[in-house]
Order: sequence, then structure tokens, then C-alpha cells
Amino acid sequence: MTRTGTARTAWGRLLAQPEPLLAMAPMQDVTHAAFWRILIRFGGPDLFFTEFFRVHAASRLDRDILRSITNNPTGRPVVAQLVGTDAAALARTARELSQHPVAAIDLNAGCPVPVVSRKGAGGGLLRDLGRLEAILGALRDAIAMPLTVKIRLGWSAPEECERWLPLVSRHGVDLVTVHGRTVQQMYGGAVHYDWIARAVAGLSCPVLANGDIGSFAQADRVLAMTGARGVMVGRGAIRNPWIFRQIREHRSGGAVGRPTGRMVLGYLRELYAALASPGCPERAQVERFKKYANFIGTGIEPTGRCLHRIQRAASQEGLFGAAEEYLDHDRPLEPLAGPG
Ligand SMILES: Cc1cc2nc3c(=O)[nH]c(=O)nc-3n(C[C@H](O)[C@H](O)[C@H](O)COP(=O)(O)O)c2cc1C
Repeated sequence: MTRTGTARTAWGRLLAQPEPLLAMAPMQDVTHAAFWRILIRFGGPDLFFTEFFRVHAASRLDRDILRSITNNPTGRPVVAQLVGTDAAALARTARELSQHPVAAIDLNAGCPVPVVSRKGAGGGLLRDLGRLEAILGALRDAIAMPLTVKIRLGWSAPEECERWLPLVSRHGVDLVTVHGRTVQQMYGGAVHYDWIARAVAGLSCPVLANGDIGSFAQADRVLAMTGARGVMVGRGAIRNPWIFRQIREHRSGGAVGRPTGRMVLGYLRELYAALASPGCPERAQVERFKKYANFIGTGIEPTGRCLHRIQRAASQEGLFGAAEEYLDHDRPLEPLAGPG
């Protein structure tokens, strides 16, 4: 079978599963193969998304991101995400990536970071729907394998989604992930789950709901509120890598696992070790770790005292000295153990 044929069959199988689809969000500099490998050890999602490949007229595939695809250690499908404004370059890149073992190609239409969105890419596409439409048309013509879109509700107001819903529907998109915020909200403020529900009703393809899903109970509430086919989790899965397993346990009516302090400490140690690369000085490894710790810290200790100490640490010993003080015990860690 061709790569496209294999991808279509695998996609069909993925979508045929009766349970909600659980996806790990793409997060730049965070969600690479080393992190995915750890997530899988704690349960893991059904589907991974790569961080975005930046695409322009002269761009080549980023080798590190590509390596996460070609050396995918998870045994689960990976969607390759693209960000850019040049329809021809995006189509060329999608064709190139479709020669690799990817489950689908995803267009980023939500990134709010100014260096991306001010150039009209990512969330910037929501201010130029003509361009979004041209890109979707070019991508759909370029590849026969599944095409997905990750999008926000609007640039400045959630109801702007009414304008892109018909446009996305016209282009045979296979799945849409909706982050229930506007671009202007960045990563804070309320998530508009009611508008995600509107997107679910207005699209003929499956939808993943995204934004602030930090516990198995919140996943359940969001699925009930939105009618989405599944959920995508980002920061919540870094803070609590057991979340996907907990969602499944809860939905199957079984007991939900309650990670203890020492289990979280074990996770932090695995994560620290996974971030090493040959010749990487300790200081650089510590700084890499802190990127994750920023999302994990309040899961360990809600007032932020532990996180504060981790942020100030300059060595492995300093990092783990702080973490052990809060985690060297076998009691369930409340922020990760409860329904939230
Ligand atoms: C550090 C960081 C990096 C991110 N990088 C990407 C990215 O490369 N592509 C993308 O579509 N979204 C990216 N996002 C957005 C997340 O995928 C997700 O939509 C957002 O964090 C909301 O979900 P959450 O509340 O579960 O984290 C990033 C978010 C963060 C915090």
C-alpha cells in the first residue's frame, strides 16, 4: 500500500474507536519524541502532533522535528503541523512530509505569538480568511492523506468562528482542533466551550476541543458541553502525564489512579534524563528542564513555593533538592489525584 493509503486506513481505524479521541497538543520546544516516550510510559494519548514546521518559499524541513517523526518511539500516530502564509510552499512541504510516516498534515491557524501572527501566519490567518481559504485549497489539492486544522475561535471575538466554519467545511478537512480562545487572549482568560460546541455543530468533520483541560473530570465536562469527538491536552499533560490514562479509567467506570509524591518525583527524574543530549552542559539541561517545570510546579505545590525554588536552581542538585522536599512521600499528590 502507498504511504497515503496506509495513512488513510490508520486514520479510519483511529476515528472508528468508540471512545473519545485523546490527543497531545503541539508545543514548540516541548513536545518532541523524548517527551512523547515518557508520556507513553504513563498511558499516553491516541494521537500526537509535532511542534510546527515553519514554512516559507525557501524553507527546508526542520531536521529535529523530522527526527521525532522518523524515530517516533510511541507506536502511535503522529500528525505533522505546518505554520506559514505561502500556499505554494505549504503545499510543497505537505507533499514532502507525506513521504514520511505521518498520520495527517495539520495547518496551524491559531498561534498567537506576535512574531508568527503579525506576519499573517498561525492565528494571523484569522484576520485574512481569503488567505486561509487559499491555503486550505492548496493543501487539499496537494495531498490525499488526511488534512487537519488547529484553529482558534477568532482574532478578537469568539463569535468570529461563524465566518470560518463554512470555509473550513468547503475544503474536505478531516479533523479540526478548536482552541476555545481568541488570538488576542493568548493563553489566558476564559475558554469559550460554548463556542467550541457551536463549531462542533457547524462542521461536518470530527472536532477536538482544546483549552485548559487539566483533569479527567474537566475532560468529561468539556466533552459533555461541546459534543466534541475528543480532547487535545497541552499544559495539563506536562503537569500530569497520567491524565490520558486517568481519562480512560474514569470513562470506563474503573478506579482512577492517584499519582503519589514519589511517582511525580520519578517522572521529573525521567524527564530530566530525557532532556540530556551528548555534550550538553548541566546548566543547559537545567534550563531545558525549567521549561517543563513552569507547567508542573503548581501541580506539586499550589502556592508556587516549590516552583520558585526550582526556577532559581542552577544545578541538578538544586532542582531535585527543591522537588524532593515536596515529593519524597507516598501520599497521593492532591492537585493531580483529585477530579479537579
Ligand atoms: C509553550 C507552548 C508552545 C506551543 N506551541 C504550539 C505549536 O507549536 N503549535 C500549536 O498549534 N500550538 C502550540 N501551542 C498551543 C497548544 O497546543 C494549546 O493549544 C494551548 O496550550 C491550549 O491548550 P492547553 O490549555 O491544554 O495547554 C503552544 C502552547 C505553549 C504553552
